[in-house]
Amino acid sequence: MNQTGILTTAACLAAALFTASAQAADPAAGKTQYEATCAACHGANGISVAPVYPNLGGQKEEYLVAQLKAFRDGSRKNDIMQPQAQGLNNTQIANLAAYLEAAAKLR
Ligand code: HEC
Repeated sequence: MNQTGILTTAACLAAALFTASAQAADPAAGKTQYEATCAACHGANGISVAPVYPNLGGQKEEYLVAQLKAFRDGSRKNDIMQPQAQGLNNTQIANLAAYLEAAAKLR
């Protein structure tokens, strides 16, 4: 391969990596997971029906991501939420947070 070929290959690889890391969260996938596992406590569209469960709909995406990661790594402690967050990977957390921030506008 000549030098131009190597450069072109490197540029394509860089573009592919960038696309993968910049991939937008998927709120539709977040909604499906939310309704299956979180809505029992946090309510439809993130509006809780019980005083002990916080509303999540309309909350800031970045804050939700930070809280879910904090529950997952144990830096935020709660006997109910820690086990909920422990099974979530970063993609699922991003999707759930993207759905929840938008959920208030869906009401
Ligand atoms: C069994 C009931 C229950 C389920 C199921 C549940 N949660 Fe929670 N969640 C709670 C409680 C209780 C709190 C308050 C925790 C505290 O006081 O720190 C909470 C807190 C949170 C918070 C922090 C809110 C804030 O204002 O800081 C987030 C984010 C959250 N839950 C997301 C989720 C997601 C996403 C799911 C589904 C994967 C889920 N929860 C499933 C009960 C539940």
